[in-house]
Parts: sequence; C-alpha cells; structure tokens
Amino acid sequence: MKILLTGASGLVGSAFAQAATRRGHHVTGLVGTFSGEIPGVATKRTADLTDETALMGTVLEVFPDAIVNCAAVSEPVQCDADPARAQALNVALPALLARLANHLSARLIHLSSEQVFDGASDDAYTVKHPVKPINLYGRQKAESERLVHTAAPEFAITLRAPLLTGNSLTGKRSLHERLFADWSAGKTPKVYTDEIRQPCTAANLAEIMVELLERNDVRGVFHWAGADALSRHELARRIRAHFKLSDTAAPLEPVTRSADPRAASKRQASLALDLKPLAGVVKTPIETFDAQLDQFIIPPAFRAWYFSA
Ligand SMILES: NC(=O)c1ccc[n+]([C@@H]2O[C@H](COP(=O)([O-])OP(=O)(O)OC[C@H]3O[C@@H](n4cnc5c(N)ncnc54)[C@H](OP(=O)(O)O)[C@@H]3O)[C@@H](O)[C@H]2O)c1
Repeated sequence: MKILLTGASGLVGSAFAQAATRRGHHVTGLVGTFSGEIPGVATKRTADLTDETALMGTVLEVFPDAIVNCAAVSEPVQCDADPARAQALNVALPALLARLANHLSARLIHLSSEQVFDGASDDAYTVKHPVKPINLYGRQKAESERLVHTAAPEFAITLRAPLLTGNSLTGKRSLHERLFADWSAGKTPKVYTDEIRQPCTAANLAEIMVELLERNDVRGVFHWAGADALSRHELARRIRAHFKLSDTAAPLEPVTRSADPRAASKRQASLALDLKPLAGVVKTPIETFDAQLDQFIIPPAFRAWYFSA
C-alpha cells in the first residue's frame, strides 16, 4: 500500500513508519522541523502542514492508497500556549486530510486521545460514552473526530490513544525519556498518585494502526491502550525500579490532585479505556506495563548520567 504519513518524526509517526514498512508498505513521510533519518520512511519530505494549498498539492502528487495522520500539537500545555497553531494542526489539518481521503477514496487513520473524556468516571470509557473534554486539547480532538467522520465516513478510522510510552527518535519525548531528562538535570518530577492512565507503547499503537489499515471492512472510532490502568506515580516508580535507579539518583515527588485544584480542573483523574470492540478480535497484542518496560532503552542523551548515577 502506498501510504502518506504526516508527523513521521513524532513518537507515533516514527513507530508507524517502521511497522508499516515491515509489512511491505511504502511510506512517504512528512516532517516539519526534524532533519534526521527516519527508519522505515522510504521518501521523506519537509512540509508545513498549516499550508493547506501546499499540502493539497503534495497529497494529489503522492496519490496515496492511505493517509495516516500523526501530526499534531500533542500536548495540552502547548495547545494552551498557542491555540491558533493547535487549532490548525489538531482540527483544520485532519479535516482537510479527510476531505482529500474521501476525494481519492483513500483510507485515513486519524489519531485522537483519551482526553476527549472528562476523567470523572470510575469505569473504563467505552467508544459509546459521550465525549466531554475539559481542556482545549480534548476539545480540539473531539472536534477533529466529528469533522473527520463527516468528511470521510466510508474511509476514516479514528483511534483514541492513551498516554504513550516507548522510545522516540529524539530520545526526549516519551514518559520514561522525560523522567530521565528531569533526573539528569537534578530535578524531582511531581507525579500524581490519583491520576490513572492506561499506557501502551507507540510501537504497539503503530501495530494496531497497520492491522486496521489492512482491513477494508473497518471504519469508525476505536479505543486502543495497554492492559494496565495505573497511577502516574506507580508508572514512574516502576520505570525507576526497572532501570535499577535509586530514589536518591531518581527522586519522585508524589502529589495529589487536591494540592492544586486549578491545575486539576484541566487534568482528567481517571482515563481507563474499554478496548471493545477491538479487544479479542485483532492480532495485535494488548501490552501489559511490564511488557512495555522491557522495550524501553536508556535514552542516548542521558546515558552518561545514567551510568554515573
Ligand atoms: N504522545 C502521547 O502520549 C499521545 C497520547 C494520545 C494521543 N496522541 C496523539 O497521537 C498523535 C501523535 O502524537 P505524537 O506524540 O507522536 O506527537 P509528537 O511526537 O508531538 O509529534 C508531532 C509531529 O507533528 C509534526 N508537526 C507539528 N507541527 C507541524 C507542522 N506545522 N508541519 C509539519 N509537521 C508538523 C512534528 O514534526 P517535526 O517534529 O518534524 O516538526 C511531529 O512529527 C497526535 O494526534 C496526538 O495527539 C499522543
């Protein structure tokens, strides 16, 4: 399959390029500022995805069988800092890609987030649960889902992803990489004991994306995540233990949501996802957190610190 991949340099995009290429697909990867090599990308192009005219030209030139959208302003804090840029990348871009996919009869995979939910439910969120975002990022993701499936109802798949783990191209993007960055800088990261997340690796998410792309009968909105819903504190503690770091070299400050109610109003307490209908009917395994830990490498930029810690 000829695949056009946006966000090829990001945490998910780079994992997707490798997973798709392993399955024999040809990936044209679009990047913004990243200048290095991306394993799995056959053709790399630099593009400003906020330039709609240029993007339309690129899509029509590549004429892909499938479009995979991994570009985004992927962090709530960055959305709040520049809402217009976030709106362009998180809403206008997927809407345009969906119109183009519909025009070309190409499959589209769009990534959304668990953060379309408010996090106030003790139960895992099902795909039928009404969305109720509590921050700008979540509102933009919810809007993108609506626009994508209106524009390309026959061709679009949206996957709502959880907090992602794994190894990024920059070595500074994922959960354990950020902890390493803090620890190596002598900082003590604050970790919530009462915020529950259900992470999976970007590589595992990439695998299910490829699997769904290869099945012509699948369309609509789906959930994907790992097998374990754990507090952020527990996740960090297990990362520290996995790398055999002491709590002196790698300190953590456990905090609760009640310590900062203003911040908590934009952060979801519990974002467990119900993986039906995919669970049990797909080949991609649902990863335990232990299985994820086994895949984490020491980020190259922090190796010297790690071996002296
Ligand atoms: N990471 C998570 O924990 C998580 C959780 C749930 C859902 N998601 C969703 O999953 C998707 C992928 O997230 P991610 O974590 O892989 O994102 P990421 O690592 O932050 O990567 C973002 C990508 O977007 C590209 N990009 C941004 N602005 C651009 C522009 N103007 N023109 C061209 N490219 C641009 C970046 O390119 P350059 O770096 O080359 O500039 C990069 O490749 C997003 O939709 C995100 O919302 C992520």
